[in-house]
Amino acid sequence: MIIGVPKEIKDNEYRVSVTPGGVHQLVEEGHQVLIERGAGGGSGFADSEYAEAGAEVIADAAEVWRRAEMVMKVKEPLPQEYQYLREGLILYTYLHLAADEELTRQLVARKVTGIAYETVELPDGSLPLLTPMSEVAGKMSIQIAAHYLEKMNGGRGKLLGGIPGVLPSDVVIIGGGTVGTNAAIVALGMGASVLIIDINADRLRYLTEVLHGNLKTLISTPHNIAEAVRRADVVIGAVLVKGAKAPRLVTRAMVSTMKPGSVIVDVAVDQGGCVETTRPTSHSKPTFVVDGVVHYCVPNIPGAVPRTSTYGLSNATLPYARKLASKGFLRAIQEDRALAKGVNTYKGYITYPAVAEAFGMEYRPLEELI
Ligand SMILES: NC(=O)c1ccc[n+]([C@@H]2O[C@H](COP(=O)([O-])OP(=O)(O)OC[C@H]3O[C@@H](n4cnc5c(N)ncnc54)[C@H](O)[C@@H]3O)[C@@H](O)[C@H]2O)c1
Repeated sequence: MIIGVPKEIKDNEYRVSVTPGGVHQLVEEGHQVLIERGAGGGSGFADSEYAEAGAEVIADAAEVWRRAEMVMKVKEPLPQEYQYLREGLILYTYLHLAADEELTRQLVARKVTGIAYETVELPDGSLPLLTPMSEVAGKMSIQIAAHYLEKMNGGRGKLLGGIPGVLPSDVVIIGGGTVGTNAAIVALGMGASVLIIDINADRLRYLTEVLHGNLKTLISTPHNIAEAVRRADVVIGAVLVKGAKAPRLVTRAMVSTMKPGSVIVDVAVDQGGCVETTRPTSHSKPTFVVDGVVHYCVPNIPGAVPRTSTYGLSNATLPYARKLASKGFLRAIQEDRALAKGVNTYKGYITYPAVAEAFGMEYRPLEELI
């Protein structure tokens, strides 16, 4: 198969969909990889590394799109890329279609086979192509919080882990899934006092078993959240209700009880945030202050560490890309139910119910179209 890797053009997006190692594997398996010049630059991969791995480096994005049978990206195509969408093209990338009606209509009208990373789903309900980015964001959330706790960054001037004879900071993590667990690992490692709040008692049981040390757990109720937030130096928002907006668990009134200079990192901001005072910010202006509390609400935290994020993403996406390339689209989705769940558009129809619902458009089960 001919696989195209264009350079990402979204603002502040430095990731690339395939590493030189990934190219090497695809080429070894008999595929041809076309990569746009400079595509790996933001993640620290030179064109020469891709060329050595066997890719053809191409100066022109249009040529990459035109010659490729499957285009592998990181972010959804932007309007200036719509011109490249054509019948039968396999587009394998994050799509987030339920939030983008125009792109959905373009993919349908142009009969693109759109496979969305975020809806590839394993039988246990987990989302393997989202997990690595949640791991990155969870780990980052604590180093971000530690930074903003510093006095000159607007914080209380408190060291996260304390020192012998001086108490550590209190970190409250709401949601003990992938983000929350990774945040807890880092916070515990730095010596903080960590409390995880989750609605799922079994999850808390599991976390208690695997993350001993300073970890405390609490079941999620409005009262428990209010008490914990009032005492916290750091609050990490990490809840997810699949397919829905994040519940607003920390109210404005709760924020106003927090100590001045304490820090909220609302990682769930990409789903609307679980703190009432949250609004999306950006890497260029990541924080704002409400009632003396520093809020950090960047929806694409992994973008700050593109080298790690690119490796993490590629580790997860490459096995499916290899299946698609080697078996072809039809056999690959017939043999892999998780990958089939990723198909959002096919032959001019929406094949993912939530996307069709979002825009009142027609839904056709994939099975009927193949
Ligand atoms: N900002 C970013 O850059 C970034 C990056 C990655 C993920 N995210 C977001 O972070 C959030 C968490 O992702 P995840 O992968 O950890 O999800 P996850 O599904 O692994 O975990 C979510 C957890 O929230 C818990 N939960 C649900 N309702 C709750 C409630 N009422 N009270 C307490 N806990 C509750 C669930 O039981 C689960 O343990 C998502 O919104 C995700 O989109 C943001």
